Amino acid sequence: MNFDPEVKTLTKQTKNFRKFNVDEVREDFPILKRLVNGKPLVYLDNAATSQKPQSVIDAITNYYTYENANIHRGLHFLSELATEAYEGARLKVKEFLNAMSVSEIIFVRGATEGINLVANSLCRANYFDDGDEIIISHMEHHSNIVPWQLLCERKNLKLKIVPVNEKGEFIFEEFEKLISDKTKLVSIVHISNALGTINPVKEIVKKSHEYNIPVLLDGAQAVPHTKVDVQDLDCDFYVFSGHKVFGPTGIGVLYGKTEYLDKMPPFQGGGDMIREVSFEGTTYDDLPQKFEAGTPNIVGGIALGAALDYLTSFDIQDISDYEDELLKYATGTLLQIEGLKIIGTSEKKASVVSFVIEGIHPYDIGTIIDTDGIAIRTGHHCTMPLIKRFNLPATARASFSMYNKIDEIDQLYKALLKVKKMFS
Ligand code: ALA
Repeated sequence: MNFDPEVKTLTKQTKNFRKFNVDEVREDFPILKRLVNGKPLVYLDNAATSQKPQSVIDAITNYYTYENANIHRGLHFLSELATEAYEGARLKVKEFLNAMSVSEIIFVRGATEGINLVANSLCRANYFDDGDEIIISHMEHHSNIVPWQLLCERKNLKLKIVPVNEKGEFIFEEFEKLISDKTKLVSIVHISNALGTINPVKEIVKKSHEYNIPVLLDGAQAVPHTKVDVQDLDCDFYVFSGHKVFGPTGIGVLYGKTEYLDKMPPFQGGGDMIREVSFEGTTYDDLPQKFEAGTPNIVGGIALGAALDYLTSFDIQDISDYEDELLKYATGTLLQIEGLKIIGTSEKKASVVSFVIEGIHPYDIGTIIDTDGIAIRTGHHCTMPLIKRFNLPATARASFSMYNKIDEIDQLYKALLKVKKMFS
């Protein structure tokens, strides 16, 4: 793909997708070759963060070695180079999400900052009135709960929670009952980080729009696993974090429809977001700069662009299909362990297996299998209300990415049998 700053679009060459081959993919991720506790690393904590391909690591090194300068400010060669690389990355994000325009792509620190931006800006715009309601679900990450609670403290708003069933599925009929003319916003996770549930987000958007209610989707867990098309979803806001999609930490994206972003006031003030500043008053720049105060995470944006290049060099459907195989295999294999229960058995599910083993605390599971070089996450996965909903203190969670192998699931299985033996 080539960036043409004049037309602000990527001239797409006819796409020849790279054939998906897990052994070749693994070669792209240098960290997968390292040992942990003397054993080959088995990295099954991808819902917490993904590993980085060499091309992303190179993009970071290359930027600091050859391109480093501040952007949007200088007329000198390096500043123009860095600006072009950063704005080129924005264009890649626009293409990736199929947004209408680059001005709908705001670089933020991550999904969390994206949600905080929307909450704070809508509040400053006096979008909410006393007694208004915001609908979220019981399976939200804390980043899609706490910003709204902070808002409820500032304004007299109410959070309405869509319950989840025993399988960890969003109960659509309950959502329909909660929507009313008091609802001002619906904010729902696309794919649950804790359970893997894939939510019916298109239907949620459609239903909300029947009431003219805007919808924010938290896509942090979705973008590495499934094709996201914001025009097709018709969502009003979509957020994701770079580090879960093979990019660096500290960079993420807020997509917003122009009709909303245009009317929303800035979230933070500072350099780069202004048109003119005087002590009498300040005018703000156009989108997207209006929401990007201060020197941004330039290298983060560029490296996120490299990560999206990496991901989109494959047909994402091939990745989804492969991860579905991993999920099926892991589910079948782990369920052979006596006393193991999978939490989150939605019909539509991404490659996350949250589980508990009778009589063994998840922390013990995580700590013991770490000695075999196996990394999983244990705890509440930043979804305390959801874990409490299942009357649990915590779960153990194995989450798979495109570079994981069936062998690694077998190693997890054997390590869990060892844990069971130790506790028997
Ligand atoms: N949200 C991240 C997780 O699911 C940190 O582990």
